[in-house]
Amino acid sequence: MAKSINKRWIKKHLSDTYVKQAKKMGFRSRAAFKLIEIDEKYGLIRPGLTILDLGASPGSWSQVVSRKLKQKKKLIEKKIVAVDILPVSPIEGVEYVQGDFLERETTEKIIKVFNNYKIDLILSDISPNLSGVSVADSSRINYLGELVLDFCYHNLNVNGTVLLKTFQGSGYSQLVEKYKQVFCQVFRKKPDSSRSESAEVFVLAKNLKNRVV
Ligand SMILES: C[S@@+](CC[C@H](N)C(=O)[O-])C[C@H]1O[C@@H](n2cnc3c(N)ncnc32)[C@H](O)[C@@H]1O
Repeated sequence: MAKSINKRWIKKHLSDTYVKQAKKMGFRSRAAFKLIEIDEKYGLIRPGLTILDLGASPGSWSQVVSRKLKQKKKLIEKKIVAVDILPVSPIEGVEYVQGDFLERETTEKIIKVFNNYKIDLILSDISPNLSGVSVADSSRINYLGELVLDFCYHNLNVNGTVLLKTFQGSGYSQLVEKYKQVFCQVFRKKPDSSRSESAEVFVLAKNLKNRVV
């Protein structure tokens, strides 16, 4: 049973247009198109910004950032940092920090890599390990969303932006409300390249409210 589901998944994955397109364009994952789509609408990736890519492996979001800034010939100007528990093969202009974002040691490493300067754009495509037990999974997902929010509160530039992948389920609306308490503008986006059967959704939040700089 599990084998046939697996086979079906592989067949579907291989016939997926975004998978084919990613391969053709040299992106490490179809996830690249989710960021491209959101960036096209909101213009997130701009020269002169410091950028943190959380849950970066295998690296397609960092590739999108690197390629876009390289086109604008500004890549080396500012720091781009990719973080993941798993390895990320080198990407031009991107520094890599290996670590678990849930651990304090990792957040301290990130802050150090940015020399204690505030970050302009935080991208989080982290997918926590899910158990299949919906109550437990929702609580992990929401906890992660809150940790990212707390990290933003302390480390994001006041005019900065965060893009958070999360999942619609129990506690999702409350999580969005928490972002609204901290940010002036909060949008929700389900890119066309995000599989319709997936509960994943992206929260985009801009400009921190009331933080003492
Ligand atoms: C959907 S993938 C990210 C894909 C990536 N954005 C790309 O475009 O290639 C989710 C990633 O989150 C990472 N991850 C899960 N939990 C994490 C954690 N606590 N800290 C850091 N990374 C984590 C996983 O290792 C995985 O590589």
